[in-house]
Amino acid sequence: MCGIVGYIGKRDAYPVLIQGLHRLEYRGYDSSGVAMISNTGELNVYKAKGKVEALEHFAQSKDLNGKIGIAHTRWATHGEPNDINAHPHCSQSGKFALVHNGTIENYNVLKVALLKHGYSFVSETDTEVVVQLIEYIQDTNNCSLFDAVREAMKQIVGAYAIAVIDRDNPDQIIAARQSSPLVIGVGDDEYFLASDATPIIEYTNKVVYLNDGEIAVINRGEKLHVFKIKGETETSINITELKMSIEELEKGGYPHFMLKEIFEQPKTLADCISGRITSDGKKVVLSGVICNKEKFLNANRIIIVACGTSWHAGLIGKHLFEDFCRIPVEVEYASEFRYRNPVVTDKDVLIALSQSGETADTLAALELAKKSGAFVFGICNVIGSSIPRATDSGCYIHVGPEIGVASTKAFTGQVTVLAMMSILIGQMKGTIDKATFEKVAADIRRVPKLIKEIFKMDSQIKDLAKIFTYARNFLYLGRGYNYPAALEGALKLKEISYIHAEGYPAAEMKHGTIALIDDEMPTVVIAIKDNVYEKTLSNIQQVKARNGRVIAIVTEGDDVVSKLVDYTIEVPEISECLTPLLTSIPLQLLAYYIAVNKGRNVDQPRNLAKSVTVE
Ligand code: G6P
Repeated sequence: MCGIVGYIGKRDAYPVLIQGLHRLEYRGYDSSGVAMISNTGELNVYKAKGKVEALEHFAQSKDLNGKIGIAHTRWATHGEPNDINAHPHCSQSGKFALVHNGTIENYNVLKVALLKHGYSFVSETDTEVVVQLIEYIQDTNNCSLFDAVREAMKQIVGAYAIAVIDRDNPDQIIAARQSSPLVIGVGDDEYFLASDATPIIEYTNKVVYLNDGEIAVINRGEKLHVFKIKGETETSINITELKMSIEELEKGGYPHFMLKEIFEQPKTLADCISGRITSDGKKVVLSGVICNKEKFLNANRIIIVACGTSWHAGLIGKHLFEDFCRIPVEVEYASEFRYRNPVVTDKDVLIALSQSGETADTLAALELAKKSGAFVFGICNVIGSSIPRATDSGCYIHVGPEIGVASTKAFTGQVTVLAMMSILIGQMKGTIDKATFEKVAADIRRVPKLIKEIFKMDSQIKDLAKIFTYARNFLYLGRGYNYPAALEGALKLKEISYIHAEGYPAAEMKHGTIALIDDEMPTVVIAIKDNVYEKTLSNIQQVKARNGRVIAIVTEGDDVVSKLVDYTIEVPEISECLTPLLTSIPLQLLAYYIAVNKGRNVDQPRNLAKSVTVE
């Protein structure tokens, strides 16, 4: 979590830094701050609790000149969100300013040592320890800032992406990374620095992704130099060309990114599928899978590790791989998997599923599996992020930047990739028959069009949201492929409206949860025509018998369920394995409109961050 930005060049740094912070606000929005070296050599640091807007308001009457600066938007870990704990943090003499994304595990030990050396601390953060340590090392060794930062990085244990500036040298930024992302944009005699490429894209499409254990020396107007933190040699620089556009980072006329991203799904899924199913519908082309065919054919087991919404997509993946590939699948919360002593062998394939490609637990889980010899495959959205760079192979979902904190288009992108993978592996193994393969492949291609059909019910869903905005609890029920869709529907509502919602397998409800049902608790039931349709009808009757109010997601033309329930939303018919791609759409919209009615900050819900780089 937390986002960092930096700039050195010919422009005024402040507008670049502020715009960059806005782009990175999805990573945390508890407080923000900037540090710039003015044209007359002062180090000006401005910070404010709350969103970047608050910082802009605070800084508007201040001295904002300077062609070099660093900035930060925070998701608090050590110390409450306030002006003092906000970054940048300065060293005791006021000479150095530093921004940091990550957590320093041994900060207390270092702090005690620095206190003994006469340093004092103003904040409760782990970050302040880092900048003081850098100053201490420089003072005792009389070395350059680069050497001091490098030595400090050797002493700290934890995750970090940092950027440091020195009041006495307005021509240099030093940056380093270990387990937290850092991208350097290479412009014309100027450099940009950020936690991801979104603050950079409007200035240059040339970027260098810093690797773990690397430190960069960014000197004004000079070539970029990157070194290993441990080791003397300079490393070669790999410049990547970004394909992202600025339009993808704007709201495009929608009131929120989340709504834009929901309505983008026909396009994003078309992009996700594009070139991956041949025009005759007989083949799926996913080179990451095809080039590693033997790994999948010989797999004794697939383990999917993920967090949050990605974990829900993983649960659908389990159904898909078991149905079409006949490979046993386990779906694990990355945070649980990594701290267990899981049995993993070289016959396992581990799939790391992550929108951001940066989730710390997912990254650690895949490293653990790698050590046991498993073949590690990534399914991610953010190109060049840490997970795709750590895996043996993988596949991007290609749905474009997702900015709303509540994941929508990434979820459907993940499910679509899992569906394509499962029928491809099934075909390679001979565990899917030709007719099923071709039907599912054809239906995957129909999904974008069918989602557009669902959007015709937008105003109906909006009206439903008005009726249920009062609710304090919600229950979401689904079975089979749609049990994960129920979990995801409940999560969407929880995270953006702050209404308690529980997703449950419809039949399990009678073992406890049914006790909660009364006329005040709405139940959303996914009751499409699948192999457990009749059973789901009984579950609906059990809810109705207890005065529950039911909203059902049904297959188009179903007139049985509508007689049993209070409200229905229809979705078009499609292969059962793809139904979550359709049923999840009205649930995203329902959550969105309820949250808007409640006046919530939909794109930046309280306490959350989109990219969770802490454990
Ligand atoms: C955070 C986000 C969720 C996301 C989860 C996993 O909690 O708010 O939307 O599902 O992290 O993130 P990942 O990037 O690994 O999919």
